Amino acid sequence: MSSLWLDTQSVRNPARGPLPPGSHWDSVVVGAGLTGLTTAVLLARSGQQVAVVEARRVGAVATGNTTGKVSLLQGGNLSAIRSARSAEVLQAYVDGNREAQSWLLRYLHERGVEYQRRPAYVYADSSAGLGTLEDELEACREVGLDVHWADAAELPYPVAGAVELADQAQIHPTAVLQSLTDELLERGGLIFEGIRVVGAGSGQPVAVKTSAGDVTADHLVLATGAPVLDRGGHFARMKGLRSYAQAYRLPRNMSVPQGMYLGLDTPGRSLRSAPAYGEEFLVVGGNGHEVGRAGSHAEAQRDLERWTLEHFPGAERTHAWSAQDYRPADSVPYFGLLPHCGGSIYVATGFNKWGMTNGVAAALAITAQILGGHMPWAETLSGRSPSVRGLLTGVKDNTSVGARMTRDWVQAELKPLSEESPAEGEGVVGRVRGRPVGVSTVNGVTRRISAVCPHMGGVVTWNDAECSWDCPLHASRFAADGEVLEGPAVENLEPK
Ligand SMILES: Cc1cc2nc3c(=O)[nH]c(=O)nc-3n(C[C@H](O)[C@H](O)[C@H](O)COP(=O)(O)OP(=O)(O)OC[C@H]3O[C@@H](n4cnc5c(N)ncnc54)[C@H](O)[C@@H]3O)c2cc1C
Ligand code: FES
Repeated sequence: MSSLWLDTQSVRNPARGPLPPGSHWDSVVVGAGLTGLTTAVLLARSGQQVAVVEARRVGAVATGNTTGKVSLLQGGNLSAIRSARSAEVLQAYVDGNREAQSWLLRYLHERGVEYQRRPAYVYADSSAGLGTLEDELEACREVGLDVHWADAAELPYPVAGAVELADQAQIHPTAVLQSLTDELLERGGLIFEGIRVVGAGSGQPVAVKTSAGDVTADHLVLATGAPVLDRGGHFARMKGLRSYAQAYRLPRNMSVPQGMYLGLDTPGRSLRSAPAYGEEFLVVGGNGHEVGRAGSHAEAQRDLERWTLEHFPGAERTHAWSAQDYRPADSVPYFGLLPHCGGSIYVATGFNKWGMTNGVAAALAITAQILGGHMPWAETLSGRSPSVRGLLTGVKDNTSVGARMTRDWVQAELKPLSEESPAEGEGVVGRVRGRPVGVSTVNGVTRRISAVCPHMGGVVTWNDAECSWDCPLHASRFAADGEVLEGPAVENLEPK
């Protein structure tokens, strides 16, 4: 499974090389997605010596697998923030996203990277969703967004109502990452791929422990999408949400909708157009769920395809992929200096599937903190402590996480692992000498791993669409051989 973006443009990093153990950097940025690379470029522009340390490849996780809408109309996000937080926080959130959107589009224009200006729509399939749509319209108007009711007439299916915000944008995310990579290297920064950060000290400079040896930095920025190293406890206040995307070539007599659409009803559908290979593709997304807590992932993919073929008959699927992002209890991202960490460690996480603007906003805010800038919206957002409601929701979520952990251990205790190898593409968890063990068969190879997540002991479940082990507690994911793919875990599942 490869995204349309990674398939059409994987990011070249010509300066790839080993991280010199013992080296010292002005800033080490962990993670080469949109947030990390934007942060790194901004710091390098100020003259800093910057190293980006990336566990996999540039863009391998959320940014290379996003849908790439750069929009201030964000589904039901603004009304969700309005109901959880103050009007001041909502305004600061929108101000930050607006500044980030302008920064990114200006950057792309200056660097000659193609993007498209498009109207964004959020719609309700049925009259049941109209109340939520009205709430969103009100929240948008309160913060000065020029939204209005629209008919969404270019969609090939009826909707009960739609709200439009004109002049938003869509990008090719890996083309953007390529440009950021190029600029970073031009300014003397370096990106070290295939190296995982596994720990950090609290002193000054920060001792950064990596899978390729230790380095030091005056500033350490954790732009890892998932909250790693557990320093702010953010992983406990967020849900990891995974969803699916597919690209289609439409028959000649059918046009690709030109707006960027997001349905509010469940299951929500996301649509946009995407130019690639000299053609125009339709990108469809949806069927989101909490990581490790779905039934069959492969069935969720098939369901998305069935829905697309029902509304775009004759469409030919060319790509299918999936990705996850993290939703904080109050829908407002966490970014900025981590308290009680020696004054040098910064975090950027919790973008709730709106990281094309929130990731850039986090980068602008963190670099302003490091370099001494002043951004009122950033101070309102980064200085916030979780609201009472957010804390309560966090507690509730963790209670369900705890219940889930116990239930999975008990289930694994009850069911001894069968001696038979699973069928191709399948994986099961069972008990071996009282411990949960996972066994899977992928490409003809049967492997056994400890099914206990090294992060905090959750019992992983099998993802049959991506042949991975996914943790239902805080959304870490592992390959069939146990190698960590993403999430807060920094260690592999042990082979058994
Ligand atoms: C299906 C889907 C659709 C989306 N669509 C949109 C959209 O249309 N518009 C929008 O605004 N947002 C969208 N988002 C959200 C957006 O894609 C993300 O918020 C954004 O890409 C996050 O970027 P990032 O750089 O913070 O994280 P990532 O791109 O995930 O980058 C983090 C990097 O850190 C690396 N890393 C992690 N741990 C370590 C470690 N210990 N050591 C070294 N490296 C590490 C990872 O390998 C990864 O490459 C979508 C998300 C999903 C899941
Ligand atoms: S991700 Fe936290 S226990 Fe698995």
